[in-house]
Amino acid sequence: MLKLENVSFSYRKGTSAIENISIDSSKGTCIGLLGENGAGKSTIFLNMLGIYKPSSGQVIYEGTPLSYKKKDLNQFRQKVSMVFQDPDQQIFYSNVEDDIAFALKNMELPEEEIKKRVQAAMEEVNITHLKDRPVHYLSYGQKKRVAIAGILAMDCDTILFDEPTAGLDPSMTEDMKVLLKKLVDQGKRLIVSSHDMDFIYGVCDYIYIISQGNMVTEGDLENVFLNEKAIQEARLIPPSLVRAHLHGGVPLFRKEEDFYRYLQKTCKEM
Ligand SMILES: Nc1ncnc2c1ncn2[C@@H]1O[C@H](COP(=O)(O)OP(=O)(O)OP(=O)(O)O)[C@@H](O)[C@H]1O
Ligand SMILES: [Mg+2]
Repeated sequence: MLKLENVSFSYRKGTSAIENISIDSSKGTCIGLLGENGAGKSTIFLNMLGIYKPSSGQVIYEGTPLSYKKKDLNQFRQKVSMVFQDPDQQIFYSNVEDDIAFALKNMELPEEEIKKRVQAAMEEVNITHLKDRPVHYLSYGQKKRVAIAGILAMDCDTILFDEPTAGLDPSMTEDMKVLLKKLVDQGKRLIVSSHDMDFIYGVCDYIYIISQGNMVTEGDLENVFLNEKAIQEARLIPPSLVRAHLHGGVPLFRKEEDFYRYLQKTCKEM
C-alpha cells in the first residue's frame, strides 16, 4: 500500500504548493484525486513517486518510509509507476516496440520475457499495428497509448494516472475507462487525478478533493459527490448523473445506461 502522511511540498521558499496532505491507497481500488487547475494534483503524484521529496511529512510504501537512494527508488518504481499527463514526458523517441521495452531492459529481464510483456502490453492498448513506427510521428492519443503500454509492461502493483483523459477524444476516453476497470479487475491499485468529474464518477470508488494545495474532503464516491458544499469550495462541478439526482429529482445512478432505462420506463408510464 502507498501512503502520503501529512505531506507538504514547496517549489519556492515561503509558499507551499501542497500542505499537510494525507492519502491512503488502501481506502479504495481506484482512488480519484480531484482538484481544479493548479490545485496540486501533479505535485502530489511527484511526491508519491519520490521524484520530489516532501518538505515535511513522509511517503510510506508497504509500511516503510521511502528511501531516496537511487537504487531503492529504481526498485520502488518497478512497483509504483505513473502515466504522466503529457506523454512526451515519458517516451524516449525510438520506435514503439523499443520504447515500451526500455524500462524492462533496465530491469535486466530475460529477452523472451521482455518480448512477451511488450507484445501483451501493445495488445492491451491496441497499438500492435504501430510497433515499428517511430514514436515522434505518432498522434498525441497514439503516444499516450505507447506511454501506457510502457507502464503496463512493467507490471506494477500501483499505477498513478495523471489526467488520463486530457487531450483524448470521446471514444478514446471511453477506451481509457474500460482499461482502468480492467486493471482494477486484475488487482492493480490505481490513483487517478482529474477534473473530468464524469470520468472519475464512472471508474473510482474513493475520492480525495483538494483545493489550493489543501485537502477539502475525502470519502466514498457517493458521499463525496453528494457533498455540494465541498465540491463548490473546490470550484468543481458534480458529475452529470449526480446533478440529475440533485436538481432533477431522479434517483442517483452510477451508469448512464441505467439512467436512460429509468427515463424510458418513466416516460412510458406517463
Ligand atoms: N516546477 C514548478 N515550479 C514552481 N511552481 C510550480 C511548479 N510546478 C507547479 N507549480 C505550482 O504548484 C501549484 C500546484 O501545481 P500542480 O501542477 O501540482 O497542479 P495540478 O493540480 O496538477 O494542475 P493541472 O490541473 O493544471 O495539471 C501551482 O500553483 C503551480 O503553479
Ligand atoms: Mg497536473
